[in-house]
Amino acid sequence: MEKERIKEFAGKVMSDLSGGMAAGLAYVGAQTGLFQTLSGQGPMSMEHIIEKSGLQPRYVEEWLKGMVCAEYLQYDMDNETFELPDELGFLLASEGTDHYMGGLLHSLPMMLSVAPRVSDAFINGGGVPFEDYGQDGILAIDLMNRGLYEQRFVSYWLKSMPTVYEKLTAGGRVLDFGCGTGHAALTMAGAFAKSQFIGLDIDPASIEQACKNARDAGLTDNLNFVQGTFSDLEPGQQFDLITTCDCIHDLTDPVGVLKKLCELLSSDGTLFIIEPKVADSLTENINPIGALYYGMSVFHCMTQSLAAGGPGLGTCLGPSGMQSLVKQAGFNSFEVLELKSQMTLFYAVRH
Ligand SMILES: C[S@@+](CC[C@H](N)C(=O)[O-])C[C@H]1O[C@@H](n2cnc3c(N)ncnc32)[C@H](O)[C@@H]1O
Repeated sequence: MEKERIKEFAGKVMSDLSGGMAAGLAYVGAQTGLFQTLSGQGPMSMEHIIEKSGLQPRYVEEWLKGMVCAEYLQYDMDNETFELPDELGFLLASEGTDHYMGGLLHSLPMMLSVAPRVSDAFINGGGVPFEDYGQDGILAIDLMNRGLYEQRFVSYWLKSMPTVYEKLTAGGRVLDFGCGTGHAALTMAGAFAKSQFIGLDIDPASIEQACKNARDAGLTDNLNFVQGTFSDLEPGQQFDLITTCDCIHDLTDPVGVLKKLCELLSSDGTLFIIEPKVADSLTENINPIGALYYGMSVFHCMTQSLAAGGPGLGTCLGPSGMQSLVKQAGFNSFEVLELKSQMTLFYAVRH
């Protein structure tokens, strides 16, 4: 063993531990509104922050000091003020935008809360069922995706497929499979009044939230959320577009589902698949996003599939894995779309 390398690795472990705590503190900042309190305000005294936040003074004090040490906040020693840099406010005090990173922060405690059960599953098998992540799991997925879907789904992602976009403008039929809390379907239904949309999800709590979102948005004429499986859809339907976002890698029977989607897709229709952005080769994934996604896989995606007796494909399926699944399901055309995104891959699949 080399002494220098031991020192280096000790530094790395310490920095990872410190990063974990920084992410936990940042989660609290997003969750309690502290980033909102600080955002765009310039330097603020601790007393002012405590008063404006309406939170418990001792907690806020310790959080502010921790966030200074983690270099999220700037501290002016002479004036004893704390400041959130505007650029960080752009990322953390911006819920509902496509640049909001608070959803990712929200996912961390939700996933790590099941770490003891996941460790147990390494020994005894099984996993943690999707529903055991509770409302917090649903909220984290919602927070991670909503802003992206609202701001990019139609105006960028669908627009990159002109025939799909024209069809929906003229009036088509769309299924969002595994719709979760419904933001992809809601965004599309709001943009294409002449098209009809169905969101299908097996999880009752997600569908309940999706229905509430639709009512709140006044989008009930051309959008219907269905809780259940394919047998809960009206028989004999065909869809011009089927979307499935952040979902295929989670499934207990991915090929079976894709086969059914193949049957439901009209002869000139498109299956639009969104998945986490990872490369096929492990060595290309040696970066922070690769580490994040493999963690998400172990603490959520793979584990909830294995819990339900599925194959546990996991978050890092990658383009080759997806291509193989759609071929097995009977699709002949598989295209990786050239859309800009740091964390997401897009596929257009056709008969
Ligand atoms: C990671 S979430 C993604 C939700 C939503 N599409 C989004 O992008 O925010 C995966 C979703 O797939 C749903 N799901 C898993 N298996 C399913 C199945 N067999 N049929 C329908 N939905 C399913 C889950 O309930 C969950 O809401």
